[in-house]
Amino acid sequence: MGRVEGKVAFITGAARGQGRSHAIRLAEEGADIIAVDLCAQVDTVPYPMATPEDLDETVKAVEALDRRIVATQADVRDFGALKAAVDDGVAQLGRLDIVAANAGIAGTADGTSNLTEAEWQDMIDINLTGVWHATKAAVPHLVAGGRGGSIILTSSAAGLMAYPNIGHYVAAKHGVVGLMRTLALELAPQSIRVNSLHPTQVDTPMIMNETIFSLFMPDKQNPTREDFAPASQEMNALPIPWVEPRDISNALLFLASDEARYITGVALPVDAGMLVR
Ligand SMILES: NC(=O)c1ccc[n+]([C@@H]2O[C@H](COP(=O)([O-])OP(=O)(O)OC[C@H]3O[C@@H](n4cnc5c(N)ncnc54)[C@H](O)[C@@H]3O)[C@@H](O)[C@H]2O)c1
Repeated sequence: MGRVEGKVAFITGAARGQGRSHAIRLAEEGADIIAVDLCAQVDTVPYPMATPEDLDETVKAVEALDRRIVATQADVRDFGALKAAVDDGVAQLGRLDIVAANAGIAGTADGTSNLTEAEWQDMIDINLTGVWHATKAAVPHLVAGGRGGSIILTSSAAGLMAYPNIGHYVAAKHGVVGLMRTLALELAPQSIRVNSLHPTQVDTPMIMNETIFSLFMPDKQNPTREDFAPASQEMNALPIPWVEPRDISNALLFLASDEARYITGVALPVDAGMLVR
């Protein structure tokens, strides 16, 4: 028996990075997957975002594990599209048990007051409102199922501490914690648990690009991944520069499984000790 055998998980941002890793990890433990991703560029995002081919790769990886997956291109900013994707997934797969609200973007400015209106708005729309949309689309299915459920919101270490020059990201990720705590209280009577994850740097395309390298090393010309490693490691207590997507997926799997059946309202760091430094 897998640790989430027979369950169905809805994952946003599933085309690549942590979202794909979550889909694979949950499928390895017996879950079927409802996957959603934008698979397109957002103008204010300073690195290449996922493509339809990336989402196809997630589909193939889950199917190779003999699990079913319903994948849809949808924008978490568009509640109607997100609801239609979840409704369709539940109609095809028969139930919903787990929600991973993971889709997100990053961006920086030379001082938070120098962010453009569009940069601020896209960040809040995707990293905060998009998370709420995912829960709004999923909760009616969890309640109707009558079996409880587990909702995991991906925040960040930046949801529990400040970083300079990314006030829009920090604000959105702190907002996710407030949403998590509120939903945990509201949904506890239905045995639906709600928790958040707070990763340190994770090895995904979101941070492995020159814009984010420069955020950590403003004085370095054309910084590389090799330059980034020691600067990134300095923020962690454990002697590693970053964690792997699977490290976050393992925490998500635990929270999704019945092993965590009495854990709700918790902000769980997977941060190599960053927050105790
Ligand atoms: N990588 C890190 O260091 C790190 C650290 C802490 C938290 N996080 C958070 O982890 C989550 C996953 O990020 P990742 O590291 O896998 O990065 P990623 O860029 O590889 O993956 C993010 C995915 O979300 C999708 N997405 C973005 N906007 C969307 C929208 N409007 N609608 C639907 N899908 C959309 C992207 O297309 C992409 O596939 C994000 O919420 C991010 O903020 C990342």
